[in-house]
Amino acid sequence: MSKKVVVLPGDDAAPEAMGPALAVLRALELDIQFVEFPPGEQWVKGETVVQVRRAIDASDSTLFGATSGKTQGIGYLRWGKGTYANVRPVSWQQGYRSPLARPEGIDFVIVRENLEDLYLGVEAPLPALAPAHLMSASTGKPLDTTDEHAQIAVKVISEKNTRRVAHFACQLAMQRKAAGGKGKVTCSAKYNMLRHTDGLFRRVVEETVAGYPELSYQQFIVDDFARRIVQTPHELDVVVLPNLYGDILSDAAAGLIGGLGLAPSGCYGDTYAYFEAVHGSAPDIKGLGIINPTATLLSAEMMLSYLGFSSAANRLHAAISKVYAQGRTLTPDQGGRASAREFGAAVIDAL
Ligand code: NAI
Ligand code: MG
Repeated sequence: MSKKVVVLPGDDAAPEAMGPALAVLRALELDIQFVEFPPGEQWVKGETVVQVRRAIDASDSTLFGATSGKTQGIGYLRWGKGTYANVRPVSWQQGYRSPLARPEGIDFVIVRENLEDLYLGVEAPLPALAPAHLMSASTGKPLDTTDEHAQIAVKVISEKNTRRVAHFACQLAMQRKAAGGKGKVTCSAKYNMLRHTDGLFRRVVEETVAGYPELSYQQFIVDDFARRIVQTPHELDVVVLPNLYGDILSDAAAGLIGGLGLAPSGCYGDTYAYFEAVHGSAPDIKGLGIINPTATLLSAEMMLSYLGFSSAANRLHAAISKVYAQGRTLTPDQGGRASAREFGAAVIDAL
C-alpha cells in the first residue's frame, strides 16, 4: 500500500524542524513517497502554489511546517480539502519540561472546529453593515454604523459544521474510552454573551453528545474554562471548541506540558487529512538550528496512524519517549543543549 505524502517545510525556523523530522521518517523505511517542496522563501510566486495544489490533490496526506506568509495557498489544505476537525493532543510524558508540579497524567485532546468562526477572514469597514439594520443586544439600540474608521469581522457558526465536528469529537472520545480513557466530552464557548453564535455551538454539541449515552458531558464558559485548563487539566479528556478559542487555548494547553515544541496536530476532513505542529514559524529562533522538532515528529506520528502505518507510529512514539526519558539530547526549550539535528539523530538511534 504505497502512499504519497506532500512535504511543505514552511517558513523561518520551521524547515529546521522539518529536515530532522523527515530524516526520522525516512529511517522508518516505509512505503511512502515524499513529494518535497522548498521552504517558502524559495517559492516562485504563483507558480509554486499551482504545483503544490496539484501535488496535494495527488497525495494521501501532507506534512506541513508553519508559515508566516511566504508559503502560500495553505488555505487549500483547510478550505479546499474540507479538513474541518483540528485535533490537538496535549499529553505529558517523562522528560517534558512542564512548569507544573504534577504534570503526570495530563492527557487530553482539543478538537478545534477548523473552517469557520472568525477564521473565514471576512472583515470590512463598519458602514458595510448599514443595510442590514442590526440591533445590539448589549445596548438594546440599533447598531450605529456611521463610523467609517471602525472595522468589523464576521463570525460564522453553522449548525452543519458544528454537528460534524461534535460527532468527530464524540467518536474520538469513544475510541479513547475503548483504550481506557475517561469517555468525556467538554465543550466551551462564550455562550452567555454570544447567544446566537456560541449559543448555537454549545446547543449542537450538547445535543450531539446526548446521542452517545456511553459518554459524559460538561460545558463551561470559555473564560472559566481557560482557568480550568491550567488548574485541573487532569480532569479533561476530549475538549471541543470553536475555531478561535481552540487556537488560543491549544497554545495555552501546550504551555502546560512544556511548550510549543511538544504540541502536534492533525486536520481531518472526510476525504483528506494533513498534519502540522501547533506552533508557528518561530522567526525569533530562525537560523539557530535549535527549534524543537518534537511537535513536527508527533504530528508525523499522527499522520502515520492516519495512513495505516500504526506499528511504525508506535515505534516512532516509543523512540521519542526514550529520548525524553534519557534526557541527554534535548533542545534548549526543554533545558538541553542539542540542536534540532542532534535531537533527530537521537530519535533515529532510539528507533
Ligand atoms: P510561534 O509559535 O512561531 O512562536 C511562539 C514562541 O514559541 C517563539 O518564541 C518561538 O521561538 C517558540 N517556539 C515555537 N515553536 C517552537 C519549537 N518547535 N521549538 C522551540 N521553540 C518554539 O508563534 P508567533 O511567534 O506568534 O508567530 C510567528 C509566525 O508564525 C507568525 O507569522 C504567525 O502568523 C505564524 N503562525 C503560523 C501558523 C501556521 O502556519 N500553522 C500557526 C501559528 C503562527
Ligand atoms: Mg495557533
